[in-house]
Amino acid sequence: MESKVVVANHKMNLTVREISDYLKKISKINNKNVIICPTSIYAPYFLQNGYSVGLQNISYKEKGAYTGEISPVQASSMGISYAIVGHSERRELFDEKDYEVHAKVINALDNNMGVILCVGETDEEKDMLRTEYILKKEIRNALKDIKKEDECKIMIAYEPIWSIGSGKLPKNKEIEEIVVYIKEVLKKLGLSNIRILYGGSVNEKNIKELKKLKGIDGFLVGGSSLDPDKFLKIVEVAVK
Ligand code: 13P
Repeated sequence: MESKVVVANHKMNLTVREISDYLKKISKINNKNVIICPTSIYAPYFLQNGYSVGLQNISYKEKGAYTGEISPVQASSMGISYAIVGHSERRELFDEKDYEVHAKVINALDNNMGVILCVGETDEEKDMLRTEYILKKEIRNALKDIKKEDECKIMIAYEPIWSIGSGKLPKNKEIEEIVVYIKEVLKKLGLSNIRILYGGSVNEKNIKELKKLKGIDGFLVGGSSLDPDKFLKIVEVAVK
């Protein structure tokens, strides 16, 4: 079975002491298919240890008086190669709108960064059979006017919001149907070379089953990426 991409999203977790322990424990990982998205202030530790690093958010501005923001120009000048854009926590908790997600995607791509674009439906939207509508809206709005040559720098992470941190997962068949749907939406945008990841309650126990998913190129892992032993196990199964 082919090797998958594994992206760790640490969110706002771990102290510097815990990072040091984490780095020791994951030192066996040496694979370009692993991308670590730490809390941004810890990025240098992972870069110094040779990891591919992503930010969990990126500014749509280039530079200037934007307190607290990090621009893609700055990130790529440090060797940070990816940005997670449009994570549901940013959309929900920080009221990030589709037009901002789009501007961030364009700014990251224009400055040579890869983009991990998160899309997904809430519990209520799933119950109201609005999953496809939400995915189409989020993908179209985020990826409009993308240059064909940039599509290889984009990954879409399908993260059902109800699955994040809940231990609940869609059935494999449901995820596969969503992948087919996402590919249809992308095709209508003239895009055919974008990788698709799954995220939401991925752990060291379910990774073997999830690896069988057709059309899924990798995984975006939250909670289970914080424990180095669990994360190592996930990588061992997913990246071969
Ligand atoms: P969990 O793996 O904790 O469900 O989080 C998923 C996620 O939000 C990754 O971006």
